[in-house]
Amino acid sequence: MRPLLLLMAFLLDPRTQAGEIIEGHEVKPHSRPYMAFLRIKTVNRTRCGGFLVHENFVLTAAHCQGSFITVILGAHNIRKHEKTQQVIPVERIIPYPGYRPKVNDIMLLQLRRKAKLTAAVGLLKLPRRGQQVKPGMVCSVAGWGRVDLNTTTDKLHEVQLEIQEDRQCRARYRSSFRNDTQICVGDPKKNQSTFSGDSGGPLVCDKRAQGIVAFGKKDGKPPRVETKISSFLPWIEKTMKRFQLHRPD
Ligand SMILES: *[C@@H]1O[C@H](CO)[C@@H](O)[C@H](O)[C@H]1NC(C)=O
Ligand SMILES: *[C@@H]1O[C@H](CO)[C@@H](O)[C@H](O)[C@H]1NC(C)=O
Ligand SMILES: *[C@@H]1O[C@H](CO)[C@@H](O)[C@H](O)[C@H]1NC(C)=O
Ligand SMILES: *[C@@H]1O[C@H](CO)[C@@H](O)[C@H](O)[C@H]1NC(C)=O
Repeated sequence: MRPLLLLMAFLLDPRTQAGEIIEGHEVKPHSRPYMAFLRIKTVNRTRCGGFLVHENFVLTAAHCQGSFITVILGAHNIRKHEKTQQVIPVERIIPYPGYRPKVNDIMLLQLRRKAKLTAAVGLLKLPRRGQQVKPGMVCSVAGWGRVDLNTTTDKLHEVQLEIQEDRQCRARYRSSFRNDTQICVGDPKKNQSTFSGDSGGPLVCDKRAQGIVAFGKKDGKPPRVETKISSFLPWIEKTMKRFQLHRPD
């Protein structure tokens, strides 16, 4: 289990010429209220991103599983005790039943108690049924991961990324890339105009979550692979309904 924490936040500023690279930018504090920071207990302590899709559920990547997970909502700087933060232990860790490394990398976390929806804590919408992202669309990813190969950050950063043709990821990842359940993200021509958010973070297109940061090459270069949420909608809906009926005491 390789902790996929690669977090390169690079941004190609749309106002500059291609080739000029600037770092991914820090977001305005609490402007992405759906973002969840996951503190994960595994052999090696690790972190991931995730996002609130229901008062009781966070969606993330299955490779973020551990023996115990705590979710922090309403955070900007995860080292600080901000008044907006809600720290909630995870009651149930529910990876997709068909998960294998690099395959079906999606997981639901049922929270021990309901998140309180506030200005700093809110839900992110799932894709509409049948809705698909198309190459050329520009979406954003946020995360608390590294802002370059060697630099970590405690503050939430975000970057814009362009959806790629499937062939870009087939060329780079061969048969590890499956276009029925994955999205190819980040323009390879733009060098580091890409970013890999903390694993588990959402790819947000037109205010809906379409992808989940899954994997990429260790060098942090684009394109990278995200889980295609629209392929898992029936499982997400069924699972949330089922476990809502078995609420923890
Ligand atoms: C791409 O990144 C490499 C190292 O990461 C750097 O040396 C090179 O100058 C970059 N190329 C462009 C076009 O920015
Ligand atoms: C934990 O870290 C050690 C040393 O970096 C590494 O050898 C080991 O494979 C890691 N374990 C897991 C489960 O990732
Ligand atoms: C990261 O650190 C390694 C080892 O210290 C160094 O060789 C490398 O050039 C650094 N990379 C960047 C992008 O700063
Ligand atoms: C996946 O790729 C195949 C072959 O290029 C294509 O026929 C199919 O429509 C693609 N599926 C999706 C969901 O994009």
